[in-house]
Amino acid sequence: MADTKRKSLLTKFNILLVLFYIGSLAATAPLVYYVTRAQTYESANKELSLLVDMVKSLRKYVAEDVRPPLLEQGIYHPPAVSSTVATGRVALRFLQAQPEYYIKVASDNPLNPKNAPVPFENTLLEIFRNNPGKEELIETGEINGKRFLVSSRPSRSKASCMVCHGDPAAAPESIREQYGTDSGFNYPAAGEVVGASVVGVPIGNIDAIALQRSLVVIGIITGLFTVFFLAANWMMRRSVIGPVVEITKVAREVSKGDLNTKVEMVRNDEIGDLAHSFELMRRSLVAMLKRARSQ
Ligand code: HEC
Repeated sequence: MADTKRKSLLTKFNILLVLFYIGSLAATAPLVYYVTRAQTYESANKELSLLVDMVKSLRKYVAEDVRPPLLEQGIYHPPAVSSTVATGRVALRFLQAQPEYYIKVASDNPLNPKNAPVPFENTLLEIFRNNPGKEELIETGEINGKRFLVSSRPSRSKASCMVCHGDPAAAPESIREQYGTDSGFNYPAAGEVVGASVVGVPIGNIDAIALQRSLVVIGIITGLFTVFFLAANWMMRRSVIGPVVEITKVAREVSKGDLNTKVEMVRNDEIGDLAHSFELMRRSLVAMLKRARSQ
């Protein structure tokens, strides 16, 4: 009965160690996973705000420094007059050097078919149209099969846009020649959303990186634990289990009547004290028996 429930000291000790191991994994691995994710998002956010501010500065430069004097002279050269076109041309060159990023001005009524929206950009346009007060959206989304952290701003129709995006018949000759007259014209009344400027930084493998780091931590903890487990077991066997088994064996012999079996153990610890006390007891027994016999 008692034997079925019997657990050796070493087993109890090992159960405790394994529970401790599982506990430390359960606490550490998810923590590493979430901290890594948070850090990656934070650095993506920093990159994004850098890129967004650069694009904004470029647009302001075109709108404030370049466009007014040219319009005064009746020059409608789009890359110099339209901040959207200028952004597109700069983005083209920037993306050649940094192909993992994403910069685009998307519109569902585009002059240039390259600027037609992908599904994620359609969603952004819809959100801006349904929320007229919204000036910026930061979202994660999939574009052409890759994941990005995206900052998006609405492009709104203004009177000044109509020179090129109004009646196609009145649009500059160069624009009609390059883009035709099917799309990109007849912009709605001022204030309506006609496009979305989209800037994205890649976050594709965030989960993979976080998972990988968690696995490395699990590996390290498991390695350290294995070494500790083996060392602790060796110590337990050598210092506790072995001597206790030996003392038990001698105690059995003595109890069977063999009073000459000695505990031979010289140790300066609690087990040593036990062995010594046992030996004293055995000697007293021997002396008592001798006395009893001689009487
Ligand atoms: C001087 C002419 C001109 C003016 C003014 C102008 N644009 Fe454009 N816009 C263009 C050209 C040309 C393109 C095509 C760029 C390309 O090939 O990528 C374009 C592209 C765009 C696009 C990207 C989608 C597309 O049509 O290809 C949006 C959105 C846009 N413009 C919005 C505006 C808004 C809003 C204004 C007014 C605030 C404006 N534009 C003023 C010439 C102009």
